[in-house]
Amino acid sequence: MPDAIFDHPRLAEVYDPLDPDRSDLDEYEQIVTDELGAGSVLDVGCGTGTFAVLLAARGVEVVGLDPAAASVAVAQAKPGAERVTWLVGTVDALPGLQVDAVTMTANVAQVFLGDDEWQATLAAARRALRPGGTLVFEARRPEDRAWERWTKEASRQVVAVPGVGEVEDWVQVTAVDGELVTFESPTIFHADGERVDSTSTLRFRTRAAIEDSLRTAGFDPAEVRDLAYAPGRSWLYLARRPTVATTAR
Ligand SMILES: C[S@@+](CC[C@H](N)C(=O)[O-])C[C@H]1O[C@@H](n2cnc3c(N)ncnc32)[C@H](O)[C@@H]1O
Repeated sequence: MPDAIFDHPRLAEVYDPLDPDRSDLDEYEQIVTDELGAGSVLDVGCGTGTFAVLLAARGVEVVGLDPAAASVAVAQAKPGAERVTWLVGTVDALPGLQVDAVTMTANVAQVFLGDDEWQATLAAARRALRPGGTLVFEARRPEDRAWERWTKEASRQVVAVPGVGEVEDWVQVTAVDGELVTFESPTIFHADGERVDSTSTLRFRTRAAIEDSLRTAGFDPAEVRDLAYAPGRSWLYLARRPTVATTAR
């Protein structure tokens, strides 16, 4: 079940206006188009489709996948969305694909809490790639302890959203249990006073664990870069499907 923040229709509608700075996608765009020269991309956890639509506008054939139907509905209403193939579901819903690149932008990798779910997602990404194709994703570095900054005091904002009115939101961590961090993110619509609550849990895996999980899924050893958008705070992982057939460990 996707979190309300992605799957509640009212929250999905204001997802983009509440977080309008998507310069985090610049690095992905540069890598996918210029560096990898990808003509086809599967975007896992595409959310409201900002990256999928951006790539499609550059002539890339894109499949956007997300289990949050409300977010995909927002994506489908965007100009140029008709160029993208949208799928509502998890990797279990994937048809046979052979794409040049698979992406998971904006920390999608952290939503997979269990090892089985994470490993199954990586295995599906590998299957969806053509031999030599590349998986590109980011994850926050646990040693940065980002969750310590996720307080109401530091994050509360009120944004005037055209056609909706003022919308207030914040995040507040409620539990830290090993690598699992749980936080609440209430959203209040000032126009009618409705408050919609959402609770999320993210997993902060170590770099070593992620590199090992990629090897287990049958990828070549990952290239790991400092994420340009969040230097020192997140790693960007690039993992290639081997060109010579191998089986996952
Ligand atoms: C932080 S959002 C990022 C959305 C988008 N990638 C972006 O850059 O705006 C995380 C996304 O992961 C999706 N998600 C949650 N569980 C998932 C799963 N099992 N498989 C794929 N996506 C999932 C959520 O629905 C949500 O859209």
